[in-house]
Amino acid sequence: MKANRIEVVAQSSRIGAEIRGVDLAAGVDPDLHASINQALLDHQVIFFRGQRLTPAQYCDFAANFGPLEDYMFADGMDGYPFITEIVKTETETESFGSFWHSDSTYLERPPKITFLYAREVPPRGGDTLFSDMYQAYTDLSPGLQATLAGLRAVNSAAVVPRDEDVYAEVKSKNSDKADQQASHPVVRIHDETGKPALYVNGIHTLRFDGMTRAESLPLLNYLYAQVPRPEYTYRLRWQADTLALWDNRCTQHYALNDYHGYRRVMHRIIVEGDAPRGTDRIEPGGK
Ligand code: SIN
Repeated sequence: MKANRIEVVAQSSRIGAEIRGVDLAAGVDPDLHASINQALLDHQVIFFRGQRLTPAQYCDFAANFGPLEDYMFADGMDGYPFITEIVKTETETESFGSFWHSDSTYLERPPKITFLYAREVPPRGGDTLFSDMYQAYTDLSPGLQATLAGLRAVNSAAVVPRDEDVYAEVKSKNSDKADQQASHPVVRIHDETGKPALYVNGIHTLRFDGMTRAESLPLLNYLYAQVPRPEYTYRLRWQADTLALWDNRCTQHYALNDYHGYRRVMHRIIVEGDAPRGTDRIEPGGK
């Protein structure tokens, strides 16, 4: 489908689209930005192949979507404080983001969009999986949707089920802030599309607000089990110079750590978001 000057090629029936016909290095005018943003709202994760951007051009492109945000647990690149370099070397076994999650949900205002620009990729593996949290919510029974509508959950920067060293590669500062917490609605209303999405994740969500973790876990674990369902997911196979962006308000993602012995270098940028909004009442079926 052609939307203005871009070609939007859906990658699955649910989520993911490749955007063709754009050289981001040439700059993005307001009309082009509106088309790209609409593609992101429609497909939740979008990517461009073969982009050759300087760090400054990469920041300029990302800034079309909102103010860039400092990632609190890592220093940025020299001269580019908003670009976090995520590196897994040939000798390392831990990787960043290898669990289903939405980014930084422990913040009062979690980043709305994350950008990832592939600089070096392994010959195979190192894909990123994405899952559609609108559909994960919509497919819940009306009874469970009604139960979730008024609930909030406490999210923590302390990585819940895994060891701290999962983050060793990039968690180079503020490790004393690992107890950072924020309470968010369990069902988030997307501020641009108005659609409800499931907004709990197995790595940052600790418990329902007002309940203990033991009381919360049976239902949380049921919800987490919905996230990786194949029919909600899309798997992005990176190439060097692929630039992807995803909407953290309605997706979760998972970086596959299946490429030991090879190097992978990604440049990551996050864009500021709003405080997640919920609702007391959502019409059954997620409308
Ligand atoms: C992330 O979780 O932000 C990184 C994902 C990846 O490296 O594929």
